[in-house]
Amino acid sequence: MTRWCGWFYRPMVVVAIVLLVFLTNPATSQPQTNLLIQACSQANVTNTRDFYSNLNQTFGTIRSQLSNNTYFVTSELTRNSQPVYVMAQCRNYMSTRDCLGCFDFAASSIRACAAANGARAVLDGCFLRYESNSFYTDGTAPGNQGLCGNRTSSRQSVFETAVDGLLSNLSIATPKINGLYAAATTPVAGTNTSTAYAIAQCAETLPSDGCRNCLQVAYNNIRSCATDVIDGRAVDSGCFMRYSGTPFFSSNQTIDIAPFLRDGSSRNKGAIIGGVVGGVGGLIILLIVVLLWYRRSKRTAPGSLYGATELQGPKDYSYNDLKKATKDFREENKLGEGGFGDVYKGVVKDGNIIAVKRLTIGSNKDNFESEVRVISNVHHRNLIRLLGCCSKGPELLLVLEYMANGSLENYLYGDKRGSLNWKQRYDIIFGTARGLAYLHEQYHVTIIHRDIKPSNILLDNDFQPKIADFGLARLLPEDQTHISTKFAGTLGYAAPEYAMNRQLSEKVDTYSFGIVVLEIVSGKRCNDVPNESAGDQILLEHAWNLYETRMHLKLVDETLDPTKYKEEDIKKVIEIALMCTQSPVSARPTMSEVVMLLSDRSRVQNPPSRQNVNLADIRIDMNNSISTTKSMSNADATMTELTGR
Ligand SMILES: *[C@@H]1O[C@H](CO)[C@@H](O)[C@H](O)[C@H]1NC(C)=O
Ligand SMILES: *[C@@H]1O[C@H](CO)[C@@H](O)[C@H](O)[C@H]1NC(C)=O
Ligand SMILES: *[C@@H]1O[C@H](CO)[C@@H](O)[C@H](O)[C@H]1NC(C)=O
Ligand SMILES: *[C@@H]1O[C@H](CO)[C@@H](O)[C@H](O)[C@H]1NC(C)=O
Ligand SMILES: *[C@@H]1O[C@H](CO)[C@@H](O)[C@H](O)[C@H]1NC(C)=O
Ligand SMILES: *[C@@H]1O[C@H](CO)[C@@H](O)[C@H](O)[C@H]1NC(C)=O
Ligand SMILES: *[C@@H]1O[C@H](CO)[C@@H](O)[C@H](O)[C@H]1NC(C)=O
Repeated sequence: MTRWCGWFYRPMVVVAIVLLVFLTNPATSQPQTNLLIQACSQANVTNTRDFYSNLNQTFGTIRSQLSNNTYFVTSELTRNSQPVYVMAQCRNYMSTRDCLGCFDFAASSIRACAAANGARAVLDGCFLRYESNSFYTDGTAPGNQGLCGNRTSSRQSVFETAVDGLLSNLSIATPKINGLYAAATTPVAGTNTSTAYAIAQCAETLPSDGCRNCLQVAYNNIRSCATDVIDGRAVDSGCFMRYSGTPFFSSNQTIDIAPFLRDGSSRNKGAIIGGVVGGVGGLIILLIVVLLWYRRSKRTAPGSLYGATELQGPKDYSYNDLKKATKDFREENKLGEGGFGDVYKGVVKDGNIIAVKRLTIGSNKDNFESEVRVISNVHHRNLIRLLGCCSKGPELLLVLEYMANGSLENYLYGDKRGSLNWKQRYDIIFGTARGLAYLHEQYHVTIIHRDIKPSNILLDNDFQPKIADFGLARLLPEDQTHISTKFAGTLGYAAPEYAMNRQLSEKVDTYSFGIVVLEIVSGKRCNDVPNESAGDQILLEHAWNLYETRMHLKLVDETLDPTKYKEEDIKKVIEIALMCTQSPVSARPTMSEVVMLLSDRSRVQNPPSRQNVNLADIRIDMNNSISTTKSMSNADATMTELTGR
């Protein structure tokens, strides 16, 4: 069996060295260079000259920005074969001089990773990380936990309670504070000298809810220390928390968090005391941690304990394991069939549920290596993760994240029809836009999806969207001529210039996105057969007619509760959707412009114009679509087969 998945950014070959060094004196102004975590990816870059030139230059940029009074900097260079994305952050209580000192220390410890394609150093005063792809919106990664310091000689329940309240308050307030950082103290009742000090901080590229999630996990982790340890930290990809009984920032640097605690639910204090009980608790935790780490690293199983998990790439799965997981690709395990291959649900040995996509790629595997490598490094919360792959004979099996809630298709037209409220629909629209913007503009290669439609938008447990099947169109064999691009879309969703002339650009996805948004708003299929004798119109035409006569609210799905949405919000979303469906291509916004329009409270500046829509072409396109879909059993059939027309 060929195992050409092996060159991936390897799983669990991550060297993680964890050092816990504690301050011997409670100094408050020092570079605070206790190295908490240092990790290098085991995979090396392929072109060290390109890599070092990017790394050196980004480090230089970051250093000069840190010296100009900033605490958080990202910098990337993607100009050559070795893209480098770097993030650095100092705790905001640090002086500029100390921040630079900490950064220099972090940089030198990261240099020890030589030409590894990813590395990080986390210190008390700052952190520094680089990767070969963007990780700026990574929040919490599985496997992170509290790093607990020395135990106090006696259990101090007063200290514990005070710290717990303080940390809980910080985890609630920090995401609401500009800069996503807070420092606070609390007097420890019953003692006359003691004060507890704590900070919480998120990467500033995280949205507020990402920061909240991250700190929630950090809070739960750090609480395991609080029973009898006087000094604790929680480290995660997107956030950091620390408390101590000894001051590590001066008391005039605290932030008044009380105003950020007033609204929102208050924590249930009854549930707080938990974790480890007993005098040797802290020691036991450390022992367990070391033991687990040791066992994990010996097993080369996925999942590292020290937060280096997102350095993982896809892993090699054995064909037999996948066969067993999917019960020999049994029909009842089939989740769906798409243009590229069937998808099966599987349960792997460790109990995790996966989705397995079975592609037939024939014998020409070399072409696919680079394509699969491209997909495998995509990390974004609105894009389905590739967990691994396996190839056997002419088959390529892609192992993907499993989404319990299935696809948007089911929620718009299937048995879950009508169960999404407006807020959920809006979140789906927003998340889908962000995922596409990432594929088009933020990832180091532009990936055009080509087949955005509801069945390719999957929903996680919180109904956040994750786009599936991106990059797979690139796996299709090219036309012999190379003049036109092979069509990999679905009529009705495909932009006219792509469906008719095979003209491919990012704006092809913008168009499909606009159509999907109209479907989400209306609950109607874009390619429903219009009954022309009854005056029916295709969805896009219908939307334009209503929009022009200011009757846009008539487009809204009747299953939506009118008290749960604001008229102007719906109008704006429809307006954006129509902008996306304009032709020529230049009239359509880019996906990052769409994200901006959606997140901006102001109104759309350049309303869409019907002059920019070629409904005649779309009707021809639609008629093709209708005759095709009618003749196929699967209404979702993609048009890959029809390229010869
Ligand atoms: C990466 O490079 C380092 C030092 O240059 C070397 O020790 C290590 O074996 C390399 N790792 C791989 C996977 O090639
Ligand atoms: C990058 O910086 C390192 C350490 O400062 C230095 O050894 C190396 O020569 C530099 N490489 C390039 C290409 O500038
Ligand atoms: C320093 O930051 C300020 C604003 O924060 C900016 O106007 C200025 O150009 C920066 N200077 C340098 C040298 O980057
Ligand atoms: C923590 O314990 C170590 C070893 O027992 C000791 O050397 C160190 O001074 C202690 N740190 C503090 C802050 O008490
Ligand atoms: C946490 O916030 C609550 C509500 O504002 C406040 O009553 C409480 O004293 C705070 N606890 C600590 C330890 O700061
Ligand atoms: C703290 O209180 C103890 C007795 O409760 C007292 O002996 C000690 O002097 C006090 N320390 C300070 C700094 O007030
Ligand atoms: C905070 O206090 C320190 C001395 O403890 C002082 O040097 C510093 O200027 C103060 N900072 C602010 C912002 O007041």
